[in-house]
Amino acid sequence: MRWFHGPPKTPVAPADACAPSAIQLSSVVAVAVALIMLLIAIRSQATRQSISGRRGEVLSCILARRSVFPRHYVERDISAEIVQGLLDAAMWAPYHGSRPPWRFVVLGKEAMVAMQRLTLDFYDANWRTTGWADGKRGTDADYRKWRTMTEDEINGRWGPVSYMIGIVAQRQAGSKRLPMHEEIAATACAVQNMHIQAASVPGVACYWSSWHDAVRDSEAMRRFLSMGSEDACLGFFIVAACSLSLKDSRQREPSSHNAVDWRA
Ligand SMILES: Cc1cc2nc3c(=O)[nH]c(=O)nc-3n(C[C@H](O)[C@H](O)[C@H](O)COP(=O)(O)O)c2cc1C
Repeated sequence: MRWFHGPPKTPVAPADACAPSAIQLSSVVAVAVALIMLLIAIRSQATRQSISGRRGEVLSCILARRSVFPRHYVERDISAEIVQGLLDAAMWAPYHGSRPPWRFVVLGKEAMVAMQRLTLDFYDANWRTTGWADGKRGTDADYRKWRTMTEDEINGRWGPVSYMIGIVAQRQAGSKRLPMHEEIAATACAVQNMHIQAASVPGVACYWSSWHDAVRDSEAMRRFLSMGSEDACLGFFIVAACSLSLKDSRQREPSSHNAVDWRA
């Protein structure tokens, strides 16, 4: 009947009554980690509340804006009316000069696929010189691997997306031109307005994607987005749907997120 009792046990040395066991130690570590996490969360919340308290509703809208990435997207269409609301908000961004420099190209489902096909065609023709994605380089096999993954993303990662909005900074014509950085800055302000407005609609998930570098800056993209020869594509503003209960786990601390130099 030995099988009933299992294999013979190795004798265990009697435990020292004063020394903590491994289980006790790991419990102490777990409690300490939990406490530290709790303190960080309370501090971050306190920072948000104290800033909101001082500045009121505007700041709570700014705090509500956040990037929501494809892993959180769900299959639900965002309406064209909601997107129109984002574009209306964009219109109120500041700009220098006589006309706003931003131009948005709203890509619906078909146009999004066309843009991704253009991306693949571009890299098929150019990857040996430009690299791919954000300038990665490698062998033929490396490229094929990335290409398969990127093609799968058309229906995978990007499948639930309702709109990709091409972000273009238009270069002003004429001899008294403003610096390009001002046109890019004003365009970024317009994107921020869209993003803040998006945060006011429950379940709308957005983020600014730089897109793949070389194709974004290519002649093919310039033609696709009907851009002028000196305009710059700054990426795509992705608009999708997410769960209403998606948590915001961002942390911001003045020491690490604000480079500020006060001088008397
Ligand atoms: C100009 C610009 C380009 C960005 N490009 C990308 C990108 O290509 N991929 C990405 O995952 N996030 C991109 N982001 C989003 C940032 O990752 C995001 O803003 C950052 O993580 C802070 O998070 P928050 O927007 O929720 O505050 C970009 C943001 C900006 C302003």
